[in-house]
Amino acid sequence: MRTFEHIGPLRTYLRGLRAEGKTVGFVPTMGALHAGHLTLIRRAKSDCDVTVISVFVNPTQFGPHEDFAAYPRNLGRDQKLASDEGVDALFAPSVEELYPAGFQTSVEVAELSAVLEGARRPGHFRGVATVVTKLFNIVQPDRAYFGQKDYQQLLLIERLVRDLNIPTTIVPVPTVREPDGLAMSSRNAYLSPEERRAATVLYRALQRAEELVKAGATDPVQVQAELEALIASEPLAQSDYVALVHPDTLQPVTTLADAVTLVALAVRIGKVRLIDNALIAPNGVPIVRNRLGKS
Ligand code: PAJ
Repeated sequence: MRTFEHIGPLRTYLRGLRAEGKTVGFVPTMGALHAGHLTLIRRAKSDCDVTVISVFVNPTQFGPHEDFAAYPRNLGRDQKLASDEGVDALFAPSVEELYPAGFQTSVEVAELSAVLEGARRPGHFRGVATVVTKLFNIVQPDRAYFGQKDYQQLLLIERLVRDLNIPTTIVPVPTVREPDGLAMSSRNAYLSPEERRAATVLYRALQRAEELVKAGATDPVQVQAELEALIASEPLAQSDYVALVHPDTLQPVTTLADAVTLVALAVRIGKVRLIDNALIAPNGVPIVRNRLGKS
């Protein structure tokens, strides 16, 4: 595996491969690789001739009081994991390489950025959309892989490539979970053993939502209240939001009865803020009706 810190040599390397007719798969990450990231990489490897990953903790997507400085960084470990998976090239630029002095352009996906995570983390999705656009322009991938764990991010990137005519196919990858249901996340490393046990409350809430809908619940307000109560029963957890929304628009739904609904959660476990989500369908409505299901 080759590691690139600079844009120029990476472009030269990829130009050569593209000239040979090779397809390029791309997995953007912020490093601290875990089994979720590795699943995206395996998917890219099986679909494409060449697999490129980026490891870049993007400062513009962190708020002033968020964990940019503390975010786990271990390039040596990430290189070893990526190399063992058969990744061809790892792009690990410095902040100056991607944001040189004078940088002032950004990309904003207006409506999808205004709700859920975007409403709680002002500027977050502008940072994500801008860095992903830059990475796409640098790597020019045929396909790029994004996890459903960050559902809103995935939806926003799908919108972005359509709106800006970026010739990359976005491939959604289902959420990878620990055996007890906790979604894999680089931020799980912040949890104490006690908090780690409490963190299963997110998955338990998603399962409860599914049970309630299976049992015939149709009122999103009532289901939301039950999920809030379940989260409140976990002493170390504090709910930030519980949302039942349309999976394409992320706008609140008025009934759970006739279409697939996205249940999205953000919960603080001590100081650690975790997110998770699930698509739930009323009996008889196949989840594949949602575009994200037909990866
Ligand atoms: P990061 O949090 O490192 O995630 C990189 C990719 O891995 C994202 O597409 C994310 O959805 C996916 N991922 C993370 N945990 C996952 C899990 N448990 N199962 C499946 N996929 C999972 O998301 C980012 O980085 C950044 O915002 C980035 C897109 C790189 C832009 O900076």
